[in-house]
Amino acid sequence: MKIKSIILTALIAIAATSGLFAQNKADAKSNNKTLVVYFSWSGNLDKMAHWIADETGGDLRRVTAKEAYPENYNKVADRAKNEKDKGIRPAINVNITKEEMANYDTIYFGFPVWWYDLPMSMWTFLESYDFKGKTIIPFFSHEGSSNGANALPTVQKLAKGATVRTKDALSIRGGIVAKSEKEVRAWVKK
Ligand SMILES: Cc1cc2nc3c(=O)[nH]c(=O)nc-3n(C[C@H](O)[C@H](O)[C@H](O)COP(=O)(O)O)c2cc1C
Repeated sequence: MKIKSIILTALIAIAATSGLFAQNKADAKSNNKTLVVYFSWSGNLDKMAHWIADETGGDLRRVTAKEAYPENYNKVADRAKNEKDKGIRPAINVNITKEEMANYDTIYFGFPVWWYDLPMSMWTFLESYDFKGKTIIPFFSHEGSSNGANALPTVQKLAKGATVRTKDALSIRGGIVAKSEKEVRAWVKK
């Protein structure tokens, strides 16, 4: 009886410290390794990001400027132009700690093209974390700058040490985003 229980205890201990425990750890890690982070002013990237998060099972986080952008198009265009011309990094709200960021290895990174580049809030974001060793997959929307203009080179420049999959980036014209759910999901699968 005693020997049996010693053997049983030993088996449980071995299982807990090797195979089973390692499996649990791997599961916890794999649940947590994809992040979908995006900026959106008029809602297109918000749609794309939700479909991508649903398809990947990744965590979804939205970046917003601490000082909200105006709803008026001319006003937002002026402010965005001024920020870009002066290289202003707006303060941002984003619910990700540096420790949490360290757990992600794949990051879907979404933005609208603004003045042929990333919105400056996304410059702030990329300069706020360490992306070394991570894979960044950009997705974006535009109204003519279908290759993203300067935006993808900017991601490469700012996300130091990351692999930025520029050739696989997803680009969708703003006007057709609402009808593009299938295309977005197919892109994730590919
Ligand atoms: C301030 C501002 C600047 C923009 N600059 C560009 C641009 O340089 N090139 C372009 O193709 N589209 C430009 N657009 C259009 C947006 O990229 C496009 O409408 C996008 O779908 C918006 O995404 P959102 O709805 O997530 O904000 C600009 C839009 C705004 C508001």
